[in-house]
Amino acid sequence: MKTILVITFLCIHEAASNYCYWNTGCPYKYFSTETAYNSVRGDIRDSVIKLTGCNPVSIWGMYRHGKRKPSSHFSEKIKAALPIRNYVVESYENGHSSLCAQDVDNLRDWKFDSKFFDGVIDITEEGRQEMTRIGNRLKETFPSLLDHLPKGSYKFRSAKGIWIEKSIESLVSGLGVPNLIIDEAKPGLDVMNPYSTCGAYQKNVKSNPAVYVESAKYLKNSEYLATKDRIQRRSGIEYSLTDENVTALYDLCRYTWSAVDRKSSPWCALFTKDDLEVLEYEQDLRHYYRNSYGTAVNEVFGKVPLGDLFTNFESVTKGGGNKIVAYVTHSTMLDQMYTALGLFKDSNPLTGANRDRDRKWRTSKISVFSANLVAVLNRCVKEGSSEYNVVFYLNEEPIRSICEEGVCSWEDFDAKLRPTVNTTIDFCEFTSKHY
Ligand SMILES: *[C@@H]1O[C@H](CO)[C@@H](O)[C@H](O)[C@H]1NC(C)=O
Ligand SMILES: *[C@@H]1O[C@H](CO)[C@@H](O)[C@H](O)[C@H]1NC(C)=O
Repeated sequence: MKTILVITFLCIHEAASNYCYWNTGCPYKYFSTETAYNSVRGDIRDSVIKLTGCNPVSIWGMYRHGKRKPSSHFSEKIKAALPIRNYVVESYENGHSSLCAQDVDNLRDWKFDSKFFDGVIDITEEGRQEMTRIGNRLKETFPSLLDHLPKGSYKFRSAKGIWIEKSIESLVSGLGVPNLIIDEAKPGLDVMNPYSTCGAYQKNVKSNPAVYVESAKYLKNSEYLATKDRIQRRSGIEYSLTDENVTALYDLCRYTWSAVDRKSSPWCALFTKDDLEVLEYEQDLRHYYRNSYGTAVNEVFGKVPLGDLFTNFESVTKGGGNKIVAYVTHSTMLDQMYTALGLFKDSNPLTGANRDRDRKWRTSKISVFSANLVAVLNRCVKEGSSEYNVVFYLNEEPIRSICEEGVCSWEDFDAKLRPTVNTTIDFCEFTSKHY
C-alpha cells in the first residue's frame, strides 16, 4: 500500500511541473485494442482463487492473439503520416511548437522499421512472448493438472490467420509439455469466430456505416475538436490536421510502444493524457456498437463459445471432457462473450454526445492484445461426495462480479450457461469470406 501511495504522489508531482513526455513518471498506456497485455494484465500465479478441499480439474479459455503488425490498410496511412515528423521538428526549430526539447530529439531519432509497417499481417516478437508467458504462468499455477497431457485430454485450436495460428503455437509451447497437437484452424464456422463467416453480420454490422454513427458524432464533439486543436498547437504544424492524420499519429504512438521492454513511443509526446483518453473513447464507441451491447446480435454470437465451455465442463463432471481447452481468436469474439455474460455493461448506452469517464466498457482493459477469458472448474470433495464450482478470470484476475465472491457454484454456472448450449446462428443469409 505504501509503495502505491508514493508512486501516485510522484505522478501528480511530475504532471504539475512543466509537462514533458520523456520524463513523465506515468505515461498513459491505455490504447484501446492496441493496448499491450503487459500494461493491464494480472498474474494468475498470484491471483488464482484457491479453495480448501478443492482441486482444479479443467481449464477452458478464449484468448485474443498477441500483438500484431498493422494491416496494409493502416500501415499505408501510417507511412503517409511519417512526414509529419519533419514538420514537427521544423516547427520546433522555428519556435512554433510547445513540445519539450528532449521529446523532439527522441522523435527525430526514432527509427522507422520498414518491416513492421510493410502491411504483411503477422504477430510481433512482443506478441509471441506474451502468449508464451501466459502458457508458462498457467503451467506454474496448475502444475498437477497440466504436467501430463495425454492425447484426448486437451483441445487447442485457433481461428484462421498466420498471426492467430502463431499465437496459439506460442501459448501451447509455453505449457512446456512436449508433443502437444494443435488442431488445424477451420476455414468455415467455428466456436471461436461464428460471426466471421456470417454474411448478415459482415453486411449489417461490421460494414454498416450506421454502426459507427456514434463514433462519427464524437468526431464532431467539442471535446474531440479540442483534442485535435491541442495536437495541432503542440506540434506546431501549420496545415490543418484531418481526422485521418490524427488517427495515423495515434497509431504510430500505440503501435511503436514496447511494453515488454517498458519503452514508450516518442510519437506519444504529441498527445496529452486527456487527448489519449479522448481517442480511446472514440475507439470504445466503435467496438461497443460493432461487437457488443450496441447491436443485439452480438450477444447471440457470444453464446456459441459459452455453450462449448458449458458442454466441456459438464462432461468433466461426468468423467470425460478435457483438462484444458484453449481457443485463440480476434477481440470481436471476446467482446461478444462479455456481452453474452452481461459483463462491463453500462446502465446507459455509450454515445458520441457524452463520454462517461467511469464507464465499464473500456476496450483498453478488456480487448487488449492477448486478452483472455479463462474459466477453471474445481472439484471439491465434501463428506465423501464431489461438488464442483467454477471461477472466471479476465486477463489473469478473478472476475468477482460474475458470481458471489467470484466463485460460481455448479448450480449458478448451470443456470447461467446451460441455456447457451445449442445456440443457433441461422440468420446469416450467406457465407462471408471475411475473417
Ligand atoms: C492527412 O490526411 C489527408 C486525408 O485526410 C491525406 O490526404 C494526407 O496525406 C494526410 N497527410 C499526412 C501527412 O498524413
Ligand atoms: C443440445 O442438442 C443435443 C442434440 O440435439 C441434445 O441432446 C441436448 O439435450 C441439447 N442441449 C440443450 C441444453 O439444449
